[in-house]
Amino acid sequence: MYQGKKVRLRAYSQQDVDNALRQVNDYDSVRMSASGIILPATYDDEARWIGQQTAMGHGEYQFAIETLEGRYVGGCGVHKIDWKNRVGQIGILIGDARMRGHGYGSDAIRALCRVGFGEMNLNKLSLTVMSENEAAIRCYGACGFTIEGMLRQEVWREDAYHDLAAMGLLRDEWRGGRER
Ligand SMILES: CC(C)(COP(=O)(O)OP(=O)(O)OC[C@H]1O[C@@H](n2cnc3c(N)ncnc32)[C@H](O)[C@@H]1OP(=O)(O)O)[C@@H](O)C(=O)NCCC(=O)NCCS
Repeated sequence: MYQGKKVRLRAYSQQDVDNALRQVNDYDSVRMSASGIILPATYDDEARWIGQQTAMGHGEYQFAIETLEGRYVGGCGVHKIDWKNRVGQIGILIGDARMRGHGYGSDAIRALCRVGFGEMNLNKLSLTVMSENEAAIRCYGACGFTIEGMLRQEVWREDAYHDLAAMGLLRDEWRGGRER
């Protein structure tokens, strides 16, 4: 529905369950993107989660990401929306490692920004990312996000604490970036 140069963001369907399950159960994919306890998901867990991602809205707006040729590569979304202050959190996972580094992630984030700013009328999109997640920080940076601060020792993973970088993009900055 929302199309970029390389990917489109579309609704999830039950046909995505196998691919999505493989991706969320790939420890190397999620270790940098989840802050909670990483546990294996079952087919039913994933099918239920996908079933809940309806356009009827429950404060979370999740999209499957597919290439323009129709290959499922991951998911992204806007969640935890603060409607009064017009701030939304975003997240993304290009779950198939072979599909990373080809411009799909940044293209999906740009499309997601069009949804958040151009459609939902948000004023700011925010996220936190593990400070050593260089790929994600570079990717968000390429889309106009800047680091606003560092949250020290926010995540316990692999027997160590990790810092989170808080990143954000304002609507005015997004508009300015589009005009350039
Ligand atoms: C982060 C992620 C979405 C990036 O998507 P991607 O499709 O691989 O990124 P792109 O190919 O669009 O690259 C965008 C920018 O990031 C840079 N980049 C991508 N992978 C990189 C890597 N491993 N190391 C350094 N820079 C990297 C690219 O060079 C590009 O920068 P440029 O525009 O300045 O040249 C993807 O790697 C991913 O899903 N990772 C696992 C989950 C995750 O970390 N999610 C984010 C949690 S907050």
